[in-house]
Amino acid sequence: MREKIFAGNWKMNKTLAETEAFLQEFVNYPGIGRGHQVLFFPPFTALVLMKELIGSVPIQWGSQNMHSKDSGAFTGEISPLMLAELGCSHVLIGHSERREIFGESDAMVAEKIAAAHKHGFKPMVCVGETLEERKGGQADVKVLRQVDSALADLTAEQAARQSFAYEPIWAIGTGLNASSGDAQTMCALIRKRVTEKVSEDVSAAMPILYGGSVKPGNIAEYLQQPDIDGALVGGASLKPDSFLEIIKNALGDLFGQVAN
Ligand code: 13P
Repeated sequence: MREKIFAGNWKMNKTLAETEAFLQEFVNYPGIGRGHQVLFFPPFTALVLMKELIGSVPIQWGSQNMHSKDSGAFTGEISPLMLAELGCSHVLIGHSERREIFGESDAMVAEKIAAAHKHGFKPMVCVGETLEERKGGQADVKVLRQVDSALADLTAEQAARQSFAYEPIWAIGTGLNASSGDAQTMCALIRKRVTEKVSEDVSAAMPILYGGSVKPGNIAEYLQQPDIDGALVGGASLKPDSFLEIIKNALGDLFGQVAN
């Protein structure tokens, strides 16, 4: 059984004061992170507070982006060495906002994935199609191209440390979430591709998340799908109450129970 994962991508939100207020409320909630995984992708500036305020509570964190080089003349970028010092376990790579707004190509995403593995981070790689691509019947082609590129140069050991987040671009921040059936179809497609490109073992264990307008009211139907292991949540992860409600609605009576 794959553990359920609840990841909050805060994007360009939260000052240090806001991060502190959020975490003080969130991390003290009884049972949080037990029997399921909770993961935050805060802005770079807030990473410094994560270790300090999360303490021994079983919550992990990572960065929303990372440059592939260790250091150099890359104004405005952040290096894997800097992130390692901040206790990041994961790195979000290839989010559609990076790809669409900041021009990250599949090749750039692949370089970042390689760097993340070199430095021992677990890359969570985002893939997803635009509305035009979906309407044109090209969603599968686009997503599989992104998946192939994200797996191309990896060893099986590296692939086993990776996860994918299927985030249809038209569903992000729009309130137009994908149906749980469509999300399942796409996540199953990704898992099948991992089987073909890597192995059955790696694909059976790989976390594959859905993201795009996930809310407390729709989370349960996603996590009932066999190939959806969790959610990458934007807007609804910004308030402790709504993010907690997402986790509780997904897990029901299992919330806070440690699996044997
Ligand atoms: P929303 O949950 O705000 O739609 O954002 C999804 C997302 O992009 C998470 O990475």
